[in-house]
Amino acid sequence: MDLHGGVKLEKEPNKNQSPSNIDFQPSKLGTKEYWDHAYERELECFRESGDTSEVWFGKESMDRIRNWLEKQNIPKDVALLDIGTGNGELLVELAKAGFTNLSGIDNSSTAVELAKAVAEKEELLSLKLQVADFLHPFPCLSHYEICIDKGTFDAISLSFDHPGEKLRRYHQSLLNVLKNGGLFLITSCNWTKQELVNHFNEGLELLEELPTPKFHFGGKTGSSVTVLVFKRKE
Ligand SMILES: C[S@@+](CC[C@H](N)C(=O)[O-])C[C@H]1O[C@@H](n2cnc3c(N)ncnc32)[C@H](O)[C@@H]1O
Repeated sequence: MDLHGGVKLEKEPNKNQSPSNIDFQPSKLGTKEYWDHAYERELECFRESGDTSEVWFGKESMDRIRNWLEKQNIPKDVALLDIGTGNGELLVELAKAGFTNLSGIDNSSTAVELAKAVAEKEELLSLKLQVADFLHPFPCLSHYEICIDKGTFDAISLSFDHPGEKLRRYHQSLLNVLKNGGLFLITSCNWTKQELVNHFNEGLELLEELPTPKFHFGGKTGSSVTVLVFKRKE
C-alpha cells in the first residue's frame, strides 16, 4: 500500500525544489481524522481476528530497513525512534531481530492503542510507545541515534493547511531529537531523492540511497518508492 499509488519517473534533479516549496495536492491522508478512523477500524479488526493490517509499502519495506541496520552492525541497544509508528509493525520486526531500545510515537491515539495491543500479543513489552505530535515534540522526546520514517513525512505533506510550514517544522523537530552523527532513514513515495536531499539539506547529509524496485514505462525509468539514509552533521 502506498500514499498515492503512483510511479515516480526520474525527474531532472532541480537544486531548488524541496517538499516545503512545492504545491502538492492535499488529501484526506494528510488529516489526523483519517488516521484516527483508519486505526479505529484496524484495532477492531485486530481484536476480532488478531490480524494486523497492511504494511505501508509492503513487508519488503521493513525487511529493507532491518537488513540495512544489520549490515551496518548497528548495536542492538541503539536508541531508535519510529516517527508516526502506526500499528507498530516495524518496531515489532526490529524487536524480533534483537533490537532492544525501540520507541515509537504517533499523534493518533488509536494507532498507539493498536501498536500497544500488537506489542502485547507478541510479548514485546519493552517497546516504548506513546501518543505525540512530532510537529510539537515535548521534552520527553530525548535524543535518538536513529530515527525512522516510513510514510509519515509523506502523510504530513498531504495536509490541507500549511503543508510547507509543517514540513519545515518536521525538519526542525528531527534536528531536535536526532543526536549529532545519528542516522535518519526515510521511505517516501511522494518525493524524489533530489527533493528530499534539498529539504533535509540543513543539518543532514545524504549517506546512501537504498535500492528499490525500478519500473520501465514509456521509455523512462522510475520507482514507486525512495529510501534514503541521512546522517546528522556533527
Ligand atoms: C502512512 S502512515 C505510516 C504508518 C507507519 N509508519 C507504517 O509504516 O505503517 C502515516 C502515520 O503518520 C502518523 N502521523 C501523521 N502526522 C503525524 C504527526 N504530526 N506526528 C506523529 N505521527 C503522525 C499517522 O497517524 C500515521 O500513523
